[in-house]
Amino acid sequence: MKVYAINGSPRKNKNTATLLQKALDGVKASEKDNEIETEIINLYDLNYTGCKSCFACKRLEGKSYGKCAVKDDIYEVLENLSQADGIIFGTPVYFGNITGQLQSFLERLLFPNFEYDKNYTSIAPKKMATAFIYTMNVSEEIMDIANYKLTFSKIESSIERIFTKPQIMYSNDTYQFDDYSKYKSDAFSEEAKAEHRKVQFPLDCQKAFEIGAILIK
Ligand SMILES: Cc1cc2nc3c(=O)[nH]c(=O)nc-3n(C[C@H](O)[C@H](O)[C@H](O)COP(=O)(O)O)c2cc1C
Repeated sequence: MKVYAINGSPRKNKNTATLLQKALDGVKASEKDNEIETEIINLYDLNYTGCKSCFACKRLEGKSYGKCAVKDDIYEVLENLSQADGIIFGTPVYFGNITGQLQSFLERLLFPNFEYDKNYTSIAPKKMATAFIYTMNVSEEIMDIANYKLTFSKIESSIERIFTKPQIMYSNDTYQFDDYSKYKSDAFSEEAKAEHRKVQFPLDCQKAFEIGAILIK
């Protein structure tokens, strides 16, 4: 069995990557027979574009029907993910949305997997378990006022349609820099941020772990 975490942050050891690793730790902890392999894929290490609208994945009797035909760094990743038992997506929120890198990746992962029939039927070879972890600067309250969840729900519903309904978690008010005194950041209280980091982030890590622990039933 194999579970992948897809890191949509350019940073490999900050908020999003940390929570993804905790989720994979949870996956590992849940296994009874040492049979689940895990892997993090850092999207910013890879060279690729979003969907090019070539429609090779929809061409009748084409050799790429149902698969992405674009041969770049994620060609093999997409091939591997099609056989995954679980996928945990993680992203920082950029301008109220998932990162561009993750959006491009999801276009390539999701689009070939539904048919252009009346129901947009999913033809994904496997309906693996999924989860989505969002990290962001704003508080939970502002996230709600700014209606972030409405934006997020669009990609979540495509993931549900094609694979399975994702478990969701949000990590708010994240610590953005190692040393706030070195950056223009008077929009924030460093003290409040540090306190949140100390008290809330470990709870977020626990939540991510729990999401991983119940991913594969
Ligand atoms: C280009 C950019 C845009 C951002 N836009 C938002 C935003 O719209 N809302 C928000 O709450 N945080 C925003 N942030 C903050 C990040 O979402 C937040 O710090 C996140 O936890 C960073 O994740 P990382 O530590 O895994 O890189 C933005 C950060 C960057 C660099």
